[in-house]
Amino acid sequence: MTADVPDGVGLSGLHDAASGCRGCELWEPATQTVFGSGPETARIVFVGEQPGDQEDRRGEPFVGPAGRLLDRALADAGIDRADTYVTNAVKHFRFRPTPKRRLHVSPGNEHIAACRPWLDAELALLAPEIVVCLGAVAARALIAPSFRITKDRGQLLPRPMTPEQEDAGVQQSWLMATLHPSAILRTPEEERATAYDAVVADLRVAASALA
Ligand code: URA
Repeated sequence: MTADVPDGVGLSGLHDAASGCRGCELWEPATQTVFGSGPETARIVFVGEQPGDQEDRRGEPFVGPAGRLLDRALADAGIDRADTYVTNAVKHFRFRPTPKRRLHVSPGNEHIAACRPWLDAELALLAPEIVVCLGAVAARALIAPSFRITKDRGQLLPRPMTPEQEDAGVQQSWLMATLHPSAILRTPEEERATAYDAVVADLRVAASALA
């Protein structure tokens, strides 16, 4: 099973093709593929882990509680979500059904790898100036497997370029990671404001990297 990513179809073509993806087994219990969302002109891309329960039902990334927190943090950092592209490392909701709720289960490395061609295709089309990883799953996939989110967050790192891109004089772009909005929601109440402020501070750094 591999993701069958078409060439030359633009973002909406990718979105359509991903809706039928059978690159791993997660498609079957999920409601639908949750592809990235935002304008093709976005200069900043946010990459989360995987859709949650509400995203799975609505077919849009970051529209549940974590998305509302992200929206607030973006606004506090002076970033308009409408100017951004938001996506996930894995595009199906992985969950364990229980009588009351579908419980989030973290994606495995095999799911992240199977979905990677979609993320790479999104990033290649968008060619953003900065990619912000929300949480460890995205950071380990896009920055380094050893990335430690609490230690290494908030740092602007150059996005690796191919020799062809360097030869063609492609402008340097940046990577950064910050805490996942769901991690803020899970933080004990007495520490939550501090964790939230750290995310806003990181997002301000990201905004300042936009040329
Ligand atoms: N968490 C994520 O990582 N992505 C979403 O889209 C929603 C919650």
